[in-house]
Amino acid sequence: MGMLEGKVAIVTGAGRGIGREEALLLAAEGAKVIVNDVGASLQGQGGDKSPAQQTVDDIVDAGGEAVVNDGDVSSWAGAEALVAQAVDTWGKLDILVNNAGILRDKMSFSMEEAEWDDVIRVHLKGHFACAHFAAIHWRNRAKAGEDVYGRIINTASESGLFGNPGQANYGAAKAGIAALTIILARELERYGVRVNAISPRARTRMTEDLFGSMAKAEEGAFDAFGPANVAPLVAFLASPEAGDVNGQNFVVFGGSVWVMEGWTAAGSVQRDSQWTPRDLADAKGKLFETHPSAIPPFSFS
Ligand SMILES: NC(=O)c1ccc[n+]([C@@H]2O[C@H](COP(=O)([O-])OP(=O)(O)OC[C@H]3O[C@@H](n4cnc5c(N)ncnc54)[C@H](O)[C@@H]3O)[C@@H](O)[C@H]2O)c1
Repeated sequence: MGMLEGKVAIVTGAGRGIGREEALLLAAEGAKVIVNDVGASLQGQGGDKSPAQQTVDDIVDAGGEAVVNDGDVSSWAGAEALVAQAVDTWGKLDILVNNAGILRDKMSFSMEEAEWDDVIRVHLKGHFACAHFAAIHWRNRAKAGEDVYGRIINTASESGLFGNPGQANYGAAKAGIAALTIILARELERYGVRVNAISPRARTRMTEDLFGSMAKAEEGAFDAFGPANVAPLVAFLASPEAGDVNGQNFVVFGGSVWVMEGWTAAGSVQRDSQWTPRDLADAKGKLFETHPSAIPPFSFS
């Protein structure tokens, strides 16, 4: 018996890449899955329904249950309809995997307004909008006296955790998603909901042109950057077994899973009176002396 037997799940952006693998594995573990994908290009244009339908067909062929939703998660109406479809189709929602996303990389001085707005909208608003309507569903059921089971798994990025040049829009959205995860976890815990986030590394159309080091492994070897390696952590976090895991951000790729720690104090100067700018300048050495000031080298989106 699978770990998600009887559960109803939504996976956004599940037509391809990481989301597709997540949908396939959730279904293999017994969940009924709404496969959402607007069918956008990497830059967020167009509406090709065939990838989402392909994911559904593959789940059904393997003996699972799935239906398509081709809505845009970054609109309030699209997110509301998505959650409503889960309830209308299977009576409830248990698991929301927020994964849909686009890229519009530019240096800050070259970025245009639409490139900023679209990336923030699809990632940050797209995550929040779906979480908002899922939260309403779970809170209403809890208020009606039901024992609620809720899981949200968000998709952040190391670009947001560490800061990747050329991704001001994307990294800011992903850092927002990491913070949103902690806030939602604190807000929704009382209703039986757990909220966690992953920062994956995988070879998809989003990264295949960028990172030669993610090249496909030879036949028979472990394909460390295959997108399927991300899905087991998501399925675990979606399961009852993860009941005491809440508000956590993970990094996941290949055979590695990391739990990340957020902002922590790294150095300090203190006194019993207000600082002046001059005194702070003079105390700079002391302020940073306990601080290794090392931002880990990083080059993944
Ligand atoms: N691939 C990586 O190494 C990597 C690294 C860090 C984070 N991520 C994140 O993982 C997630 C999945 O990325 P991927 O690499 O599989 O990319 P992908 O482009 O293969 O898949 C993203 C999917 O999201 C869909 N989508 C885009 N906008 C949408 C919208 N408004 N509504 C519904 N669906 C929409 C697209 O149609 C596409 O099928 C993204 O959030 C991405 O930022 C990926």
